[in-house]
Amino acid sequence: MQSTATTDFTGVAETALWTLYHRAAEAARKDTVLPDPQAARLVRELDFPFRQRLGPARPWVAQTLALRALAFDGVVRAFLSTHPEGTVIALGEGLETTFWRVDNGQVRWVSVDLADPLALRTRVLPHGRRQCHVPCDISRDPDSRWTELVDPSQGVLVTAQGLLMYLDAARVHQLIAACAETFPGGAMVFDTVSRRFSARCRTGGKGPGGYRLPPMPWGMDADGHRTLQTVHPAITEIRDVPLPVGRGLTGHVVSRAATLPVLRSNRPLITSLRFRAAV
Ligand SMILES: C[S@@+](CC[C@H](N)C(=O)[O-])C[C@H]1O[C@@H](n2cnc3c(N)ncnc32)[C@H](O)[C@@H]1O
Repeated sequence: MQSTATTDFTGVAETALWTLYHRAAEAARKDTVLPDPQAARLVRELDFPFRQRLGPARPWVAQTLALRALAFDGVVRAFLSTHPEGTVIALGEGLETTFWRVDNGQVRWVSVDLADPLALRTRVLPHGRRQCHVPCDISRDPDSRWTELVDPSQGVLVTAQGLLMYLDAARVHQLIAACAETFPGGAMVFDTVSRRFSARCRTGGKGPGGYRLPPMPWGMDADGHRTLQTVHPAITEIRDVPLPVGRGLTGHVVSRAATLPVLRSNRPLITSLRFRAAV
């Protein structure tokens, strides 16, 4: 593989390498919850000082991020079971490798991210005629080119894994409303950090291993579903997507967080939305 310019990444773009690094660390285990050969290959081959820059990969972070990816894979697989030729629009996709884990040979896939991470993705991951890449800063331009490029006739699922916490609440609501408006009958899935975690990260939080996470201005708790209902009248269903049960204590605690006293109201969430079909 060619040497890449990944060392130029800073801020939110660098978080694509952070999640990749942890998924690869989890995938390297014999008892992994998420086999991810593409992620493992990228971490071996990319010209980026993962350990120096991001610190040691902590097993509990690695497993939690892998379980999050597994939960998103489940939502995509369920969508493809009813819309085998549908389109998945992956917002803030970074170096996520869902496509190769769920590909049914028919799905069309639109990857949206900032220009630099997307250029890296294009360079280091294989892509065929069913995949396309759209550079876009969603914080400035939440509903532009990527909405126009999609043929919605076979169904649309919008995913935003590890993205919305980096936007402010007004932009998030605008983005969700744009999806509800543009893709009648479609669906969306995204994850959030809690309000408390977001407040701690206002000026950038210290992650495990000394890595400084960029500010996360938007947080949502389970009661935030009530606000989501008001974002657009075409939102017909709002559902909590549970994390799959993982390995050991971490794997059990994170998947049961909704039932545990301290974590119940202060935990990351995965939320799926459905949009009313056109009449
Ligand atoms: C934490 S990473 C998640 C990457 C991938 N979805 C995953 O789960 O491994 C956040 C991603 O969102 C992208 N991102 C952040 N802010 C963005 C924005 N305003 N517009 C488009 N992409 C953005 C970053 O470049 C990065 O790829």
